[in-house]
Amino acid sequence: MPAIDPAHIPAKLFPVIDALCTTGAEVSRIIARGPLGQALGAGVGENSDGDQQKALDVLADEMFEAGLRGAGVRYYASEEQEEVLSLVEGGTYAVAADPLDGSSNIDVNVTIGTIFSIFEAAGDANASFLRPASEQVAAGYIAYGPQCLLALTFGEGTQLYVLDPETGSFALAEAKMSLPEAAKEFSINASNRRHWTPPVLAYVEENEAGAEGAKGRNMNFRWVGSLVAETHRILTRGGTFLYPSDARPGYESGRLRMVYEVAPMAFLVEQAGGLATDGTTPIMALTAEKLHERRPFVFGSRQEVERITELHG
Ligand code: AHG
Ligand code: MN
Ligand code: MN
Ligand code: MN
Repeated sequence: MPAIDPAHIPAKLFPVIDALCTTGAEVSRIIARGPLGQALGAGVGENSDGDQQKALDVLADEMFEAGLRGAGVRYYASEEQEEVLSLVEGGTYAVAADPLDGSSNIDVNVTIGTIFSIFEAAGDANASFLRPASEQVAAGYIAYGPQCLLALTFGEGTQLYVLDPETGSFALAEAKMSLPEAAKEFSINASNRRHWTPPVLAYVEENEAGAEGAKGRNMNFRWVGSLVAETHRILTRGGTFLYPSDARPGYESGRLRMVYEVAPMAFLVEQAGGLATDGTTPIMALTAEKLHERRPFVFGSRQEVERITELHG
């Protein structure tokens, strides 16, 4: 039995998606055993971005690399690897991944995930990834939460799958996700308030003023610390997410990585009817210049993202 229902997946991409799902299901089993298995949240080193690596970051990276190699993938770019890896000579696709997103939540039983972005391999290893986000042929995330979910796009809407524990295979739950136009919730790491730019501060203050302010309605605040969990909540019931640039050294372009996090999430969000920008410019129109580069990221419900753009004007 394949690891995912093939009915809505382009045949050419099926082996790659099937490998991502097989590996995702294995990672999900390891996470579900938590402390009964190995110490998944133990610090084991640092990646080239300067992030602390947890045991599960490294394990998930090795597992996805092996799975993608088995599926004939040409190039693999990972948050946890400094350089692009050449996997299979002559392979058609280049896959970028954040093998384990939300690693600060590993030991606290909160949703974590895997994010991936697929391009057709082009030119050399780096050139396959350093191109407009709009050239992605597919993107998705797997959320390891109360349910193990897969959100997936090929540029014709965003599909939602659930890993059925009875069969071990991802089954279609929603053929076309639709992100609500208006939001009742916003997400930002509020501990960085003193470092924010004026437009970001203005947006947050507008939300905090609630029904008594110019907005005229209350907004609730949510912050998980896992981009995958945040994105899934927003795709499901609307909202906004901001990881803006701020005044801290090293945060001139925010925290999130264009190739592994921002571009694939932007593709999924826009295919569900939401908007994704860097504050002003649509992410899908942007091109990464470096593999590990960061980008300010603002996405979610259309009306809110438009308001944030206005504040930046
Ligand atoms: P990762 O675990 O892949 O390094 O990504 C963590 C990201 C993202 O999941 C989350 O939105 C953000 O970092 C949290 O950042 P803070 O360090 O500001 O909490
Ligand atoms: Mn990291
Ligand atoms: Mn991440
Ligand atoms: Mn990660």
